[in-house]
Parts: sequence; structure tokens; C-alpha cells
Amino acid sequence: MLNKLKQWKRRQVSEDADERFQELKKHRIPEHLAIIMDGNGRWAKKRALPRVAGHHEGMKVVRRVTKLANQLGIKTLTLYAFSTENWKRPKMEVEYLMKLPEEFLGTFLPELIEENVQVRMMGYEEALPSHTANAVKKAIHKTKENDGLILNFALNYGSRFEIIEAMKDVLKDVQNGILEESHLNEETFSQYLMTKDLPDPDLLIRTSGEIRLSNFMLWQLAYSEFWFTDVLWPDFNKEQLIEAIEAFQGRSRRFGGLQSEES
Ligand code: FPP
Repeated sequence: MLNKLKQWKRRQVSEDADERFQELKKHRIPEHLAIIMDGNGRWAKKRALPRVAGHHEGMKVVRRVTKLANQLGIKTLTLYAFSTENWKRPKMEVEYLMKLPEEFLGTFLPELIEENVQVRMMGYEEALPSHTANAVKKAIHKTKENDGLILNFALNYGSRFEIIEAMKDVLKDVQNGILEESHLNEETFSQYLMTKDLPDPDLLIRTSGEIRLSNFMLWQLAYSEFWFTDVLWPDFNKEQLIEAIEAFQGRSRRFGGLQSEES
């Protein structure tokens, strides 16, 4: 009897989520969603599992969220998979994290191709082990003609480093007469960043209760809406994605100006 009640409740929750998910599509959907996927280690610890078990579970969530984002009509999904600071973690954990893109793409690339997803990467590829870089390059190549969701992995990415590298390129172009100093503005500077052909994120989600940016897209997130949840990344599901987008749809984005009725 208790089991039947539980089953009924679960079905009810899932039907509710389906309805809310469909409803979302009638309103403004973020064009670019960025996610700081945090809490894998804590998820594993709670289950007395090694930290890497949390990363593995987190990888499965990447697949589910990619599918949902695609169904919603989100154009770009940027996922913070490995930061320039993550090299400080124990060697074994780093090695495991470096194998995940291979495992993910090795398993799901056919599905991504079928779903018209275009895989991309932003980050410093040169420092990645060749097996990681090759798996990503292969996926980028195989999906480059796709024009559906852009699945953009931030891998060995750090925003301060990105900005400094951009500055160096700007200086070079000014010295070589390619760019006039007087033409340097926010728009031209954006063209030197790794996101040069992407719009800024409309919405940033961070899981696991941490309320900070951790060197993620500092320039690009200047006017984005932020949504934080205590839910750990491996537990993140359709329900939370709906909540985040519902919250986004309820926000008024003024980009420093006034709402139209106020002007
Ligand atoms: C932060 O959690 C998470 C990471 C550093 C890695 C994120 C990677 C994935 C979710 C898998 C990526 C999948 C692909 C396909 C590349 P944490 O380890 O800092 O968690 P904690 O704060 O609880 O310790």
C-alpha cells in the first residue's frame, strides 16, 4: 500500500514537471545557459564513495541536461568541466577528470550527432593530455556542421587567464596596426575572448550551495541572471532546471537601464 502511494506520488510529480516544462516553452528561454557543476565530491562523500564516483554520476547529468536544454530550444549550453585551478587536485582525481570527456564522447557522440548538437570547447587545449584533447577535437570535427544546441565545454578554462591572453592579443594588434587604440571598446574586446562568436550567458546556474563565480566567465557574466541551488550536481534534474528557468522568466532584465514602463 505504502509502495503504491509512493509510486503514485512519483508519477504525479513527474507529470507536474512535464506540464511545467511545456509551459516554459511559451515564455522567454535563455539563449545561452552557463552552469557551474559543483558538488560531485560531496555527493560521493555522503554515500561513502570515492570522489570520482561523484564525477562519474555528474557526467550522466551532463547528458540529461544537454537533452533537456536542446528540447527547450536553448541555443548554447556552457558547462564548467575543469578549471585552470583544478590541476591542484590529487593526481588521481585529475587523471580521472581528464578521462571523462573521452568516456562521455565515446558513449554519447552518436546520440549528440543524431540530436544535431554541436560540440565545442573553450579553454587551454595545449595543456590537456593528448587523449583528452583528441577526443574533444574528434567530437568538434564530427559535429561541426550541426546547427542545433552548442554544447560548449569549459575545459582547462580560467577567466582571468582568458582576459590576460586577450589583452596580450589586443596589444599585439595595436602594435601591428591591425587595431586602432581608439577603436578598442567592449565590443571589440569581446572579439578577443574565447566566446567571440557566442552571446553572453543569459542565465548562470551554480549547484551545491556555493555562491561564487570561481573564475568563470567574469567578463561574459556581467549582466547575466544568477540562480543558485543547494542541490549537488549529481542530483540536479529536470525539476531544478525548470525552477531555474521559471526564476529567469520572472526576472526583469534591465542591463543597467530602466524597465520600459518606468521610462
Ligand atoms: C566540482 O565538484 C566539479 C568538477 C571540478 C568537475 C565537474 C565535472 C563533471 C560534472 C563531469 C564532466 C563531464 C564531462 C562530460 C566533461 P567538486 O568536485 O568540487 O565537488 P565538491 O565541492 O563537493 O568537492
